[in-house]
Amino acid sequence: MQKNILITGGAGFIGSHVVRLFVTKYPDYKIINLDALTYAGNLENLKDIEHSSNYVFEKANILEAEKLKEIFSKHHITDVIHLAAESHVDRSILSPMDFIYTNIIGTVNLLQTAKDFWKADLAAHRFHHVSTDEVYGTLGDEGFFTETTAYSPNSPYSASKASSDHFVRAYGETYGIPYVVTNCSNNYGPNHFPEKLIPLFINNIITNKPLPVYGKGENTRDWLYVIDHARAIDTVFHHAANHATYNVGGFNEWKNIDLVKLLIKLMDEKLGRPAGTSEALITYVKDRPGHDLRYAIDATRINKELGWSPSVTFEEGLSATIDWYLSNTEWLQHVTSGNYQKYYEEQY
Ligand code: NAD
Ligand code: DAU
Repeated sequence: MQKNILITGGAGFIGSHVVRLFVTKYPDYKIINLDALTYAGNLENLKDIEHSSNYVFEKANILEAEKLKEIFSKHHITDVIHLAAESHVDRSILSPMDFIYTNIIGTVNLLQTAKDFWKADLAAHRFHHVSTDEVYGTLGDEGFFTETTAYSPNSPYSASKASSDHFVRAYGETYGIPYVVTNCSNNYGPNHFPEKLIPLFINNIITNKPLPVYGKGENTRDWLYVIDHARAIDTVFHHAANHATYNVGGFNEWKNIDLVKLLIKLMDEKLGRPAGTSEALITYVKDRPGHDLRYAIDATRINKELGWSPSVTFEEGLSATIDWYLSNTEWLQHVTSGNYQKYYEEQY
C-alpha cells in the first residue's frame, strides 16, 4: 500500500527534522506536513526540502475536526506521526488552557479522525504519538525512568502530555487504533526556538544578555541531539510492535549549571572571546514553580529490541548546534522579532 504519512507539527523544532528525514530517506512515501504555524512553527525550517515531489504542506489546526477529515480524505492518509503540541513548560505556567486545547483535545480530534477514516482495515495503519519523559514527573538523585514508571506529571504541560498519552492508549484498547508511543528526553539542535534553555542561552551569549539560571542551577536533564530523536522515531515507526511504548534518551545527564558552563566555554572559543568571559552573564533568578529536579531516561528497551542508540556525543552535537546558530543569524533575527519580545519581557 502506498504510504501517505501525516506528520503534525512538522514546521516546529523536532517535527522539521522528522519531516526532512522521511522526505529524503523514503522517496516513495508521500509526506503531508500539517501545522498551524503558531509562534513555534516556521517554514524556514524546511526551506531545503519544500519543493520535493513527495512533500506537501497543509496549514491547519488540529482543533479543527472538519479540516482534519478533509485532509485525511484529500491525501488518503495511511499513517500519522503526531508531534503538534504546545511544548514549553514556562508558557504552560502562564497560559495552561492553550496546552489543554492543543495537547489533549487536538490529540483526541486526530485519534477520532484516524479511527473513522481507517475503520475498514484499522490494522493496516499506524498512529505514532510523540511524547515526553516529563509525564513521569521527577526523580531524586538516583534511578531512571523506564517504560513502566508510573505517570506523575507536575506542570500543566506535562499533565496535558500525560493526558494525551492516556487517550492514545484508550483509543488503542477501546477502538483498536494501532498506536505506538515514544517518550523522549530533552532535545537540542538546529531550529530550536530560543525560549528553551540551550537556544535561549546561545542567543543571549551572542547578544551579551543575562543568562537566567532558575534556582541554583542544580536541576538535571538528559540531553539528546534532535537528529537522533528523529532517527528513533523512524525506527519505532517502522519496527515497533503495535501498542508498544519506548523511552528515548541520550544517556547524557547534565546539571543545568554545568551545561551552561560547557556552553560558555565552547561559545567563548568560537566567538574569539577570552576563556570564561561570558560567565559574567550568568544570573540566578527565581525558580520555575513546580520545577522537576531531575529527568533521566533508561533507553535500554529501544537499544536492545530495536538497535537504536545516539549517533553523536554531546560535545559533537552541541558544537554543531552552536555552529548552526552562528551561521543562521537571519533565522534567529526572524524568530526573535515581534511577539518574542513581549514573551521575553513577561517571562524574565
Ligand atoms: P515546537 O513547539 O518546536 O513545535 C510544535 C509545532 O506544533 C509547531 O510547528 C506549531 O506550529 C505546531 N502546533 C502547535 N499547536 C498546533 C495546533 N493546534 N495545530 C497544529 N499545529 C500546531 O515543539 P517541539 O519541541 O518540536 O516538540 C514536538 C513534540 O515533541 C511535542 O509533542 C513535544 O511534546 C514532544 N517532545 C519534545 C521534546 C523537546 O525536548 N523539545 C522532548 C520530548 C518530546
Ligand atoms: O524532557 C523533555 C522536555 O524537555 C520536553 O517535553 C519539553 O517540550 C521541552 O521544552 C523540555 O522541557 P524542559 O523544561 O526540561 O526544557 P527547558 O529548556 O525549558 O529547560 C531546561 C532546564 O533549564 C530546566 O531545568 C529549566 C532550566 N531553565 C530553563 C530556561 C528556559 C533555566 O534555568 N533558565 C531558563 O531560562
